[in-house]
Amino acid sequence: MAGATIVVTGANRGIGLAFVTEALARGAAKVYAGVRDTTTVTDELRATGAEIVQLEVTDAADVAAAAHTCSDATVLINNAGLHAQDRLVKCSDDEAARREMEVNYFAPLATTRAFAPVIAANGGGSIVNVLSVAAIAPTAFMGGYSPAKAAALYLGGIARAELEPDGITVTSLIVGSVDTQMAAHVDGHKEDPRDIAVAGLKAMQRGDWTADTDTMAFQSRARMALDPVRYERGLGKLLFADALSTKA
Ligand SMILES: NC(=O)c1ccc[n+]([C@@H]2O[C@H](COP(=O)([O-])OP(=O)(O)OC[C@H]3O[C@@H](n4cnc5c(N)ncnc54)[C@H](OP(=O)(O)O)[C@@H]3O)[C@@H](O)[C@H]2O)c1
Repeated sequence: MAGATIVVTGANRGIGLAFVTEALARGAAKVYAGVRDTTTVTDELRATGAEIVQLEVTDAADVAAAAHTCSDATVLINNAGLHAQDRLVKCSDDEAARREMEVNYFAPLATTRAFAPVIAANGGGSIVNVLSVAAIAPTAFMGGYSPAKAAALYLGGIARAELEPDGITVTSLIVGSVDTQMAAHVDGHKEDPRDIAVAGLKAMQRGDWTADTDTMAFQSRARMALDPVRYERGLGKLLFADALSTKA
């Protein structure tokens, strides 16, 4: 971590803010905090000392400008994410799944394309993609989000193969339920975002290809391996649970 220059997308709150704080606490030389609206930067983020960078991840001009500004980057953490809380087939908004694919898949693809040459020019480094248990199993109550995170899991695997000769590792984080705005509607145990950031940074330092960051992620992977049909059926039933209900 010492000497690393880290770019975090979606850094103004939740898991992104935790990555900023924990990376600096662990000796990162510099952290760039990507935020899509620099007028909404919180005091908490300012207090970290991170350099704020304008970065709406779906905006090609913002991505190109950020790659130029952060020319000393050695690590990219693709954290920005969108969960539209709609259903996939019986949706209330036809465009929701497309927006989720833009933010959760095409945006990390664009930032990976933009930052890989920067990281390579700085001697190599790492890309970390913040994914979800919804990436490893079709998760019906996360209609458009689950397929987008699954696509991003494959993005990580393919980028890893392409970028290995450039000295860049790619780590996909499989994350369970975390206590942030995104999961505000979810009941039950939720992880502390700081624990997810610490687990993610450790996985990156180990060079893990894929890392389960918490108990829910471990358990989901185990259930999926043991009996995928039963596990998917169980997830399907959750579609009708009040706490997780989607709009339609
Ligand atoms: N919370 C969970 O239970 C959970 C579980 C598994 C995985 N994750 C993943 O963890 C990551 C962080 O989510 P979180 O839980 O911290 O949720 P969050 O509190 O809702 O934060 C999401 C962050 O992404 C940013 N963002 C969204 N769309 C963006 C865009 N187009 N351009 C730039 N930034 C954008 C948001 O910025 P604004 O503040 O400007 O909206 C915010 O900073 C996401 O990838 C999410 O899918 C979360």
